[in-house]
This record gives sequence, C-alpha cells and structure tokens, in this order.
Amino acid sequence: MNDVYILGIESSCDETAAAVVRSGEELMSNVVYSQIATHQPYGGVVPELASREHLRAIVPVVRKALEDAGHTYETMDALAVTKGPGLAGALLVGLSYAKALAYALNKPLIGVNHLEGHIHAVLLEERQNGNREMQFPVLALVVSGGHTHLYLAERKDAGWIYHNVGHTRDDAAGEAFDKVAKLLELGYPGGPIIDFLAQHGNPNAVKFPFAQMKHRDRNPQNRHDDDRRVDFSYSGIKTAVLRYVETHDMHAAIDQRRRVLTERKTPTQEEVLAACDRQTLDLAASFQRAIVNDLVSKTFLAAQAYSAATLLVTGGVAANSELRSTFHDAAAMQGLPVYFPSRKLSTDNAAMIAAAAYPRFLAGEFAGQELSADAALRLR
Ligand code: KG4
Ligand code: ZN
Repeated sequence: MNDVYILGIESSCDETAAAVVRSGEELMSNVVYSQIATHQPYGGVVPELASREHLRAIVPVVRKALEDAGHTYETMDALAVTKGPGLAGALLVGLSYAKALAYALNKPLIGVNHLEGHIHAVLLEERQNGNREMQFPVLALVVSGGHTHLYLAERKDAGWIYHNVGHTRDDAAGEAFDKVAKLLELGYPGGPIIDFLAQHGNPNAVKFPFAQMKHRDRNPQNRHDDDRRVDFSYSGIKTAVLRYVETHDMHAAIDQRRRVLTERKTPTQEEVLAACDRQTLDLAASFQRAIVNDLVSKTFLAAQAYSAATLLVTGGVAANSELRSTFHDAAAMQGLPVYFPSRKLSTDNAAMIAAAAYPRFLAGEFAGQELSADAALRLR
C-alpha cells in the first residue's frame, strides 16, 4: 500500500487546527491556533466570537500545516474535516472551507466525528511508537469540555464501531473544571490551572461525595436496557464547591484575586498561585481528587462489566496529571493496559481528525458536497 497523506481540519470549538498525517501512523505536522485569549475575559467559549476567529485563522493555519509537513495541496491524497459534534457556527467554518478546497483541488473529502478523532489521537501515537496491536474489546473514556462518555469499541473491517456504555447525565468533567475555575477566579480554561494549583494543595482537605447513578436516565433518548451501564454526573460537585465557598466566607479572597489578576492580562500559572491562599489551594486539590477518583473508579467498573481488554483515555481532561497517574496505578494493579495521547494530542487538534479519516479513506467512505455540520452528532 502506498503512503496516504491526509490533511485534517478541525474547528468544532475554540481551536482552529490543521495537520498532515501519513497513513494514520505518522504525524507530519500539527498546527493548533488557540482562541484562549479571545474567550478568557468571558470565562468560557463565546460561540459567535469562536466562528469569527476560525474565519480569521483557517487559511493561515492550513497553509502552515502543509508547509511544516513539507507538502503542498497537490500532494494530499484526501482532506478530512470535523463534521460534529461541536458548536454549529464553528463547525461550519472548517466544513465549508474543506468542502471548497476539496472541490477546487478535486480531492476526496472525509467527514469525521470529533469523538472518534479523540480516540484516534491515541491510536496514531501508539502506531507511531510501534504498537500496532490492541486487544479488543477496547473501552475508551472520552473526557473533555463537552463530553464524559464511555465507548466500547470493536473492530469492523478496516475501522471500528462504538457502543456508548456510559455518559454524563449533566455537565462534562472538563466543564466542571472550567466552571469551578471561574467561580474561584482562577482563569480560563480551568483544567490546566487547577491541575497546576492542585499540586500545591491538600487533596484530602474537603470531602466531596459522589452519587452512584443507579436511577434511570430521565431523558428518554438516553434510556438503555443494559444495566451494566455506568453514568457520570458533575453538576453536583460544582454546586458543592459553591456551597463550600459560601459557608467558608471565601468571597472576599476571590474578589481580591480577581482584582490582582485582571491587572495582568494573561497571568502565568505562578502568578495565579501567588494570588491563592491555602484554603483555595486545598479546595482546588480536593475538587480535582474527587473528579479523578470518580472517573477512574467508574471506568474500571465499566471495564469489568464489559470485560474490556484495553483502556483508552482521551480528550482535553486526559491531559490532567493526577488523572494520568491514578489511571496508570490502577491499570497496573488490575493488569489492564491503559493508553493516553501525549498532552499535545489530548486537547483538540486536527492530527486526530486526519488519523481517524485513514480507515475511511481505505474503505472509500467519501463525503459528497451535501456534507453538513451536525452539532449533536453521536458516535456509533
Ligand atoms: O478536548 P478539548 O480540547 O475540547 C473539547 O472537545 O471540549 O477539551 C477541553 C477541556 C476544557 O474543559 C479544559 O478545561 C480541559 O479540557 N482540560 C483539562 C486539562 N487540560 C485541558 N482538564 C483537566 N486537567 C487538564 N490538565
Ligand atoms: Zn474535543
């Protein structure tokens, strides 16, 4: 089989990204333009601003990805683009651009599910490291700002098929990191800064109990008969943090921190640390410990229930240091291999989109000009 070069384009949320991947196994280039500075003042992604920023960035980002890879538009075998899930307006920018480019270049176009992309970030790097064999069934935890989903994956022809065996009933884990960081005035996005601050706090200072999700999902769309399912819920812990802040009179310290940090436009992690008292650091560390323990214990519960042979953990929150070390320790104890993407490929990028497109390229699954964005696309 000849080498296949795929140009991936990703614009589902607040990162404009393009990458070139060879045959789903070699990262040739990976360009990510992050809009963090644009959204930072609002403490979350503002959809209208995201679309505008994507429009501004997409052409130079794609050009740079080709240039870094030492390639041109002509040497690409196919284009791949995220078709969903994500913000509708943001998705449309990448999708329209990729469609126009594919049409002009007369190259095949492949529409990719963003969630499958996150899973392929792991596979790409494992193949790159010489690991080509994964034992099935594979259980994948996709944990990001928009998702906390467990998928049981099986192989089908050149690609994989997925069964959703668990999901969050409310907030995603990354969303909880972002909301708690906003509440404590630690900056945006919340995950990386809480990850850093938690290393300076006592994770046992505050106890956050987690409900086991035994009742049925109230959303009829999500009802499943399989009683082995393992669901998550992260809106309760956010409220528990708020209650802790109120009962421990932390508002003055939070206001003070806001004043100090707004003076610096983009404060460094060290500057945020300097603006935190012990109580805040302990709260951040305890919050992170609670989320990590819940994610790890429920994933292992599902792994046991579905006799998984391999675990994959991916998505923005997979960049979390404590999540990584806790998963590695638990996996070693249970004798179950667990794989993460590198930190760079944990958060949104286009290399994962180009990698996920490769089996679809082999299967000839090309999109027509009618390809459209689906903000609520599911993974199957
Ligand atoms: O996958 P991603 O880049 O975008 C989505 O598809 O949502 O994930 C972004 C999310 C944000 O909520 C961010 O706070 C979180 O991932 N995140 C982290 C870390 N780095 C990013 N959460 C915890 N620890 C981190 N180190
Ligand atoms: Zn993502």
